[in-house]
Amino acid sequence: MIRLTVTPVAREFGAEVGGVDLSLPFDATVLADLIGAMDRYAVCFYRPGRPMPDNGHIALGKALGPIDTNPVFKITGRKKTRVPIELQDVANIDENNDVMKEGSRVILFRRGDRLWHSDMSFHPNRAVYSLLSAHEIPPAGGDTEFCDLRAAYDALPDATKAKIESLVAVHSIWYSRAVAGFPDPTEEELASRPPSRHRLVQVHPGSKRKTLYLASHASHIEGWSEDEGRVLLKELKEFATQGRFVYRHHWQLGDVVIWDNRCTMHRGTPYEDTRYRRDMRRATTREMALSA
Ligand code: OGA
Ligand code: MN
Repeated sequence: MIRLTVTPVAREFGAEVGGVDLSLPFDATVLADLIGAMDRYAVCFYRPGRPMPDNGHIALGKALGPIDTNPVFKITGRKKTRVPIELQDVANIDENNDVMKEGSRVILFRRGDRLWHSDMSFHPNRAVYSLLSAHEIPPAGGDTEFCDLRAAYDALPDATKAKIESLVAVHSIWYSRAVAGFPDPTEEELASRPPSRHRLVQVHPGSKRKTLYLASHASHIEGWSEDEGRVLLKELKEFATQGRFVYRHHWQLGDVVIWDNRCTMHRGTPYEDTRYRRDMRRATTREMALSA
């Protein structure tokens, strides 16, 4: 029987998976192994050596959970994307296949991914797994970092755990964009995605471990003054992103990194994004089969 190989990178966070061609249909044993590895290590990368075709990428995503094809927000002026509707286009390449220019609203938007975040926390129907596939990588920079929110929760002082146990954070894509220097959202943008609310402490379904649920999209704590909430969120983010909780992925062409958004945050790191091409495409599974 063909089994998935799982090689941890360090501790209990991050692993390389392989031994099976994940771009072809695979059996239930492999899927169970993959979900088991995800539940334990939260970030798994697969290194086939060449970019996965979009259809194989989408099929892998769909094997892991429902994919919603409704747009989650609007970026004013953004043209049709280059990829099938099941994927998110997170490249710096425009519809004419050129590197985007400085000042492009889409480039400014993408730079917001350099803040620690969890995908789609700004949506009531959160992202579960993100599967990011590297079709073109820049010659330098552009690594992606991940932090372990279960280990960070475990390491919090008991008094902090008690204080935050039942708090709810409010998340907005337009808040994190403003922090990252994106211009004021247009009416169309604002209306396309109102804020969402999520518990700050959650139980991770696959491992039953407690986890923080945090993102730069979180603007404040419900029922607290804005300032107080922001201070708490900043402290928790700083605590959770200490080096001891972080895995940094250095991309090779074709890598597919899968992460569980329910118990991790991630961020892009800088590269010369108006000079070098970086073509990354993301399949994203969602908590519920139908979006709100
Ligand atoms: C994403 C993301 C960061 C990166 O695709 O969700 O945040 O390094 N990407 O491309
Ligand atoms: Mn992201």
